[in-house]
Amino acid sequence: MIIAVDGPTASGKGTIARALAAHFGVPHLDTGLLYRAVGRQCVLDGGNLEDPAAALAACAFPESLLLDPELRSEETGGLASRVSVHPAVRRALYDRQRAFATRAGGAVLDGRDIASVIAPDATAKLFVTASTQARARRRFAEMQSHGRDITLEAITADLAARDERDRSRKDAPLVVAPGAVVLDTSDLDRDQAVAEAIRIAEIAL
Ligand code: C5P
Repeated sequence: MIIAVDGPTASGKGTIARALAAHFGVPHLDTGLLYRAVGRQCVLDGGNLEDPAAALAACAFPESLLLDPELRSEETGGLASRVSVHPAVRRALYDRQRAFATRAGGAVLDGRDIASVIAPDATAKLFVTASTQARARRRFAEMQSHGRDITLEAITADLAARDERDRSRKDAPLVVAPGAVVLDTSDLDRDQAVAEAIRIAEIAL
Protein backbone atom coordinates (compact mmCIF):
# COMPACT_ATOMS: atom_id res chain seq x y z
CA MET A 1 0.00 0.00 0.00
CA ILE A 2 1.49 3.29 -1.13
CA ILE A 3 -0.41 6.53 -0.54
CA ALA A 4 0.84 9.49 -2.58
CA VAL A 5 -0.10 12.99 -1.39
CA ASP A 6 0.91 15.86 -3.66
CA GLY A 7 0.02 19.52 -3.67
CA PRO A 8 1.24 23.11 -3.35
CA THR A 9 2.66 24.85 -0.28
CA ALA A 10 0.28 25.29 2.70
CA SER A 11 -2.47 23.24 1.05
CA GLY A 12 -2.69 21.01 4.13
CA LYS A 13 -0.96 18.06 2.46
CA GLY A 14 1.55 17.56 5.29
CA THR A 15 -1.15 17.44 7.95
CA ILE A 16 -3.24 15.11 5.80
CA ALA A 17 -0.29 12.82 5.02
CA ARG A 18 0.61 12.50 8.72
CA ALA A 19 -3.02 11.77 9.62
CA LEU A 20 -3.31 9.14 6.86
CA ALA A 21 -0.11 7.46 8.08
CA ALA A 22 -1.45 7.34 11.64
CA HIS A 23 -4.85 6.08 10.48
CA PHE A 24 -3.43 3.25 8.36
CA GLY A 25 -0.51 2.52 10.71
CA VAL A 26 2.25 3.06 8.14
CA PRO A 27 5.32 5.33 8.15
CA HIS A 28 5.30 8.76 6.51
CA LEU A 29 7.99 10.58 4.52
CA ASP A 30 7.83 14.36 4.07
CA THR A 31 9.85 14.58 0.85
CA GLY A 32 9.92 18.39 0.95
CA LEU A 33 12.21 18.07 3.95
CA LEU A 34 14.85 16.40 1.72
CA TYR A 35 14.80 19.32 -0.73
CA ARG A 36 14.86 21.75 2.21
CA ALA A 37 17.98 20.01 3.56
CA VAL A 38 19.67 20.31 0.15
CA GLY A 39 18.86 24.04 -0.05
CA ARG A 40 20.07 24.67 3.49
CA GLN A 41 23.26 22.63 3.01
CA CYS A 42 24.03 24.50 -0.21
CA VAL A 43 23.81 27.82 1.66
CA LEU A 44 25.92 26.45 4.55
CA ASP A 45 28.53 25.41 1.96
CA GLY A 46 28.50 28.92 0.50
CA GLY A 47 27.28 27.45 -2.80
CA ASN A 48 25.17 29.10 -5.47
CA LEU A 49 21.64 27.62 -5.43
CA GLU A 50 21.33 28.17 -9.17
CA ASP A 51 24.52 26.15 -9.90
CA PRO A 52 23.54 22.48 -10.51
CA ALA A 53 26.97 21.19 -9.37
CA ALA A 54 26.81 23.11 -6.06
CA ALA A 55 23.23 21.93 -5.46
CA LEU A 56 24.16 18.34 -6.29
CA ALA A 57 27.11 18.44 -3.84
CA ALA A 58 24.67 19.58 -1.14
CA CYS A 59 22.67 16.34 -1.59
CA ALA A 60 25.35 14.75 0.64
CA PHE A 61 23.92 16.65 3.65
CA PRO A 62 24.40 14.92 7.04
CA GLU A 63 21.33 13.06 8.39
CA SER A 64 21.38 15.26 11.48
CA LEU A 65 20.44 18.25 9.31
CA LEU A 66 16.95 16.77 8.87
CA LEU A 67 16.31 17.52 12.56
CA ASP A 68 17.27 21.20 12.30
CA PRO A 69 14.18 23.36 13.11
CA GLU A 70 15.47 25.92 10.60
CA LEU A 71 14.43 23.51 7.84
CA ARG A 72 10.77 24.28 8.60
CA SER A 73 11.13 28.01 7.94
CA GLU A 74 9.57 29.82 5.01
CA GLU A 75 13.03 30.99 3.94
CA THR A 76 14.30 27.41 3.67
CA GLY A 77 11.17 26.49 1.69
CA GLY A 78 12.25 29.10 -0.84
CA LEU A 79 15.80 27.65 -0.97
CA ALA A 80 14.31 24.18 -1.51
CA SER A 81 12.23 25.34 -4.41
CA ARG A 82 15.34 26.83 -6.07
CA VAL A 83 17.50 23.68 -5.80
CA SER A 84 14.60 21.39 -6.71
CA VAL A 85 14.59 22.65 -10.33
CA HIS A 86 17.90 20.83 -11.02
CA PRO A 87 17.33 17.36 -12.56
CA ALA A 88 20.58 16.11 -10.96
CA VAL A 89 19.23 16.98 -7.50
CA ARG A 90 15.91 15.24 -8.19
CA ARG A 91 17.78 12.14 -9.42
CA ALA A 92 20.04 12.11 -6.37
CA LEU A 93 17.01 12.05 -4.06
CA TYR A 94 15.03 9.53 -6.12
CA ASP A 95 16.39 6.22 -4.71
CA ARG A 96 15.84 7.22 -1.12
CA GLN A 97 12.21 8.19 -1.80
CA ARG A 98 11.55 5.13 -3.95
CA ALA A 99 13.00 2.80 -1.31
CA PHE A 100 10.72 4.37 1.29
CA ALA A 101 7.67 4.10 -0.98
CA THR A 102 8.20 0.40 -1.69
CA ARG A 103 9.04 -0.75 1.83
CA ALA A 104 7.14 -3.77 3.09
CA GLY A 105 3.95 -2.85 4.90
CA GLY A 106 3.29 0.33 2.96
CA ALA A 107 3.99 4.03 3.30
CA VAL A 108 2.60 7.52 2.90
CA LEU A 109 4.73 10.08 1.04
CA ASP A 110 3.93 13.72 0.50
CA GLY A 111 5.51 16.12 -1.96
CA ARG A 112 5.06 17.49 -5.46
CA ASP A 113 5.89 14.55 -7.75
CA ILE A 114 5.03 11.47 -5.69
CA ALA A 115 2.17 10.25 -7.89
CA SER A 116 3.80 11.45 -11.12
CA VAL A 117 7.43 10.31 -10.69
CA ILE A 118 8.33 8.59 -7.39
CA ALA A 119 5.38 6.22 -7.13
CA PRO A 120 3.22 6.24 -10.28
CA ASP A 121 2.12 2.78 -9.08
CA ALA A 122 0.72 4.20 -5.80
CA THR A 123 -2.45 2.56 -4.53
CA ALA A 124 -4.08 5.87 -3.62
CA LYS A 125 -3.22 9.27 -5.09
CA LEU A 126 -4.42 12.51 -3.57
CA PHE A 127 -3.80 15.98 -4.93
CA VAL A 128 -4.44 18.35 -2.03
CA THR A 129 -4.97 21.98 -2.96
CA ALA A 130 -6.59 25.22 -1.75
CA SER A 131 -6.99 28.75 -3.07
CA THR A 132 -3.95 31.04 -2.84
CA GLN A 133 -5.87 33.26 -0.40
CA ALA A 134 -6.77 30.35 1.90
CA ARG A 135 -3.19 29.06 1.87
CA ALA A 136 -1.70 32.50 2.52
CA ARG A 137 -4.11 33.09 5.42
CA ARG A 138 -3.14 29.75 6.99
CA ARG A 139 0.57 30.39 6.62
CA PHE A 140 0.09 33.94 8.01
CA ALA A 141 -1.75 32.67 11.12
CA GLU A 142 0.92 30.01 11.65
CA MET A 143 3.75 32.53 11.40
CA GLN A 144 2.00 35.04 13.66
CA SER A 145 1.59 32.33 16.28
CA HIS A 146 5.38 31.93 16.15
CA GLY A 147 5.74 35.65 16.75
CA ARG A 148 7.05 36.36 13.25
CA ASP A 149 6.75 39.90 11.95
CA ILE A 150 5.51 39.44 8.38
CA THR A 151 2.60 40.76 6.30
CA LEU A 152 -0.11 38.79 4.53
CA GLU A 153 0.94 40.51 1.29
CA ALA A 154 4.54 39.29 1.63
CA ILE A 155 3.38 35.73 2.29
CA THR A 156 0.95 35.78 -0.65
CA ALA A 157 3.72 37.00 -2.97
CA ASP A 158 6.12 34.34 -1.68
CA LEU A 159 3.55 31.54 -2.13
CA ALA A 160 2.72 32.69 -5.64
CA ALA A 161 6.42 32.77 -6.60
CA ARG A 162 7.01 29.29 -5.18
CA ASP A 163 3.89 27.89 -6.94
CA GLU A 164 5.00 29.37 -10.23
CA ARG A 165 8.49 27.85 -9.90
CA ASP A 166 7.14 24.42 -8.89
CA ARG A 167 4.55 24.37 -11.71
CA SER A 168 6.72 25.68 -14.51
CA ARG A 169 9.95 23.71 -14.01
CA LYS A 170 10.77 21.25 -16.78
CA ASP A 171 11.66 18.29 -14.60
CA ALA A 172 8.81 16.85 -12.50
CA PRO A 173 6.57 19.93 -12.30
CA LEU A 174 3.69 20.01 -9.84
CA VAL A 175 0.80 18.39 -11.75
CA VAL A 176 -2.35 16.44 -10.98
CA ALA A 177 -1.19 12.94 -11.95
CA PRO A 178 -3.48 10.59 -13.88
CA GLY A 179 -5.72 8.80 -11.43
CA ALA A 180 -5.23 11.35 -8.65
CA VAL A 181 -8.26 12.61 -6.72
CA VAL A 182 -8.28 16.38 -6.12
CA LEU A 183 -9.12 17.43 -2.57
CA ASP A 184 -9.70 21.20 -2.21
CA THR A 185 -9.29 22.17 1.45
CA SER A 186 -10.10 25.92 1.03
CA ASP A 187 -13.36 25.66 2.97
CA LEU A 188 -12.54 22.69 5.19
CA ASP A 189 -11.10 22.72 8.69
CA ARG A 190 -8.40 20.26 9.67
CA ASP A 191 -10.73 17.48 10.83
CA GLN A 192 -12.99 17.77 7.79
CA ALA A 193 -10.00 17.65 5.43
CA VAL A 194 -8.54 14.59 7.17
CA ALA A 195 -11.90 12.76 7.19
CA GLU A 196 -12.33 13.42 3.47
CA ALA A 197 -8.76 12.25 2.73
CA ILE A 198 -9.32 9.00 4.65
CA ARG A 199 -12.58 8.45 2.75
CA ILE A 200 -10.80 8.96 -0.61
CA ALA A 201 -7.91 6.67 0.37
CA GLU A 202 -10.21 3.92 1.64
CA ILE A 203 -12.07 3.82 -1.67
CA ALA A 204 -8.75 3.39 -3.53
CA LEU A 205 -7.17 0.82 -1.21
O1 C5P B 1 6.56 20.70 0.71
P1 C5P B 1 7.61 21.70 1.05
O2 C5P B 1 7.07 23.11 1.17
O3 C5P B 1 8.41 21.33 2.25
O4 C5P B 1 8.62 21.69 -0.19
C1 C5P B 1 9.61 22.66 -0.34
C2 C5P B 1 9.99 22.76 -1.81
O5 C5P B 1 10.67 21.56 -2.20
C3 C5P B 1 8.82 22.89 -2.78
O6 C5P B 1 8.45 24.24 -3.00
C4 C5P B 1 9.33 22.21 -4.03
O7 C5P B 1 10.02 23.14 -4.85
C5 C5P B 1 10.33 21.20 -3.53
N1 C5P B 1 9.80 19.83 -3.57
C6 C5P B 1 9.87 19.15 -4.77
N2 C5P B 1 9.46 17.84 -4.84
C7 C5P B 1 8.97 17.21 -3.77
C8 C5P B 1 8.87 17.90 -2.52
C9 C5P B 1 9.28 19.23 -2.46
O8 C5P B 1 10.30 19.71 -5.77
N3 C5P B 1 8.59 15.94 -3.86
